[in-house]
Amino acid sequence: MAQKVIIIGGKGSGTVIAEAIKDAAKRGYNDYAVEGFLNDTGKVGESLDGTMVLGKHSKETIGKYYDNGYKFIFSLHRIGGEERMISLFYELGLSPDMLVSFVHPTAYVAPNVVIEAGVVIMPYVMISSAAHILLNTLIMTGATIGHNTCTGEFSHIASQAVVGAYIKMGKGSNIGLNATVLEYLSIGDYSVVGMGGVLTKNVPNRQIWVGNPSHFLRISE
Ligand SMILES: CC(C)(COP(=O)(O)OP(=O)(O)OC[C@H]1O[C@@H](n2cnc3c(N)ncnc32)[C@H](O)[C@@H]1OP(=O)(O)O)[C@@H](O)C(=O)NCCC(=O)NCCS
Repeated sequence: MAQKVIIIGGKGSGTVIAEAIKDAAKRGYNDYAVEGFLNDTGKVGESLDGTMVLGKHSKETIGKYYDNGYKFIFSLHRIGGEERMISLFYELGLSPDMLVSFVHPTAYVAPNVVIEAGVVIMPYVMISSAAHILLNTLIMTGATIGHNTCTGEFSHIASQAVVGAYIKMGKGSNIGLNATVLEYLSIGDYSVVGMGGVLTKNVPNRQIWVGNPSHFLRISE
């Protein structure tokens, strides 16, 4: 039987993840059934792009659903503001054993890739040999992750980004739409590579870099 899944979040990452899971089921991959969203903005019973809001995302509500056999995907990411989202994850009483990882069936993931809890790998992603995808990483449609690269916990890689080999991403780091990262680089905790950037240098913690070649833009939260 499919594992019942609730997405913490809503419009944006939450709704696209919900649809990707439904699409996987249509293709015969029935591991998960999306039951709805918990968030702090929607009204109970409201449909967000076809998936219902079940309630607020309080610790009590999450605990109740977990005790009744539900598991979770934490879809909240804020580019340049990830630290707050990570604190929220722990305030809500969430832990890795309460999460599922979802890999869309059209993604190529090399057999020796390590995927931790809460990871979401969207359609047409490619992940090469010996990559390590850490807790709650979100990899959006069509992104490419090079071999031996390690994402950061709670990191986010936007659509069509190309992350080269042997890269070390920090906790809560973000790589923007269609950005490209040269191999062997490191991207610090809570740092951001802006959309379309071509990163050729290491980025320290809490910095936003943009452009081709990318340069420092400002400090990140
Ligand atoms: C890098 C980013 C976080 C900066 O956001 P911001 O701090 O609000 O920046 P602003 O829009 O105030 O722009 C500040 C300056 O940087 C420039 N800039 C912003 N983003 C840039 C980018 N990606 N590449 C080059 N220049 C950029 C702006 O043109 C502006 O330049 P100016 O001062 O000469 O006018 C944002 O632009 C970005 O790339 N976000 C990622 C989007 C994304 O990938 N989303 C994925 C989910 S859909």
